[in-house]
Amino acid sequence: MRTPIIAGNWKMNKTPAETKALIEELKPLVQYAAATVVVCVPAVDIPAAVQAVKGSKIKVGAQNVHYMPSGAFTGELSAGMLKASKVDYVIIGHSERRQYFGETDETVNRRVLAAVEGGLTPIICVGEQKEQREAGYTDALVTYQTTIALTGLTPQQVRKVVIAYEPVWAIGTGLTATDEQANETIGVIRKAIAAKFGRGAANRVRIQYGGSMNPKNVKGLMAQPEIDGGLIGGASLKAEDFAKVVNFDR
Ligand code: 13P
Repeated sequence: MRTPIIAGNWKMNKTPAETKALIEELKPLVQYAAATVVVCVPAVDIPAAVQAVKGSKIKVGAQNVHYMPSGAFTGELSAGMLKASKVDYVIIGHSERRQYFGETDETVNRRVLAAVEGGLTPIICVGEQKEQREAGYTDALVTYQTTIALTGLTPQQVRKVVIAYEPVWAIGTGLTATDEQANETIGVIRKAIAAKFGRGAANRVRIQYGGSMNPKNVKGLMAQPEIDGGLIGGASLKAEDFAKVVNFDR
């Protein structure tokens, strides 16, 4: 059995003061959740988030990590820096970074290796664009993205990572993949992992759905056997909505 994992991706939202306020509001609402709960906050909000989650079950994540341990990489953060700041998770390869910031499958892979070696749990994003789904490329694409992202990890390391299947056309659009579409594609991702790292690793790895997931559609998605959680954008910015997603099983 895989423990569900619900993570908020705050994207470029909230100041440190707003971070403290949102987490304080969230804490009592998710205290008894069965799922792992993560908030992935902007880098400047990490200290406020780490302070605010104390005494709760909420874990803190970052939204990116560089692949080098240190050096002349203006604007970047290393896994060691994040770990020293008490970050546990890091989103890697979000489609917004692939679209706007030149992220490729190869750089995603390098970041994943750096994160794992640095003791962070990566939340690795994969997913197709609308045209790719319409052209019938979804399965081949997510298989490729997943395989490249995990290259160089051992099966023992793979079983601890988190994958987020985020169809690009469902992000921030209010459109969601149907429960069956999401389940089927996540099944394809799990098969790709099994082919390369074995059934044991594939059965353990947690794979989330992301893309307009909210209090209304979470139950149906989470009832699917392959779907182990969610990566939540818009609905993670309001404590009440995010708590409802986290507590989908009640
Ligand atoms: P929305 O939930 O706002 O569609 O965003 C999803 C997402 O990109 C999470 O990483």
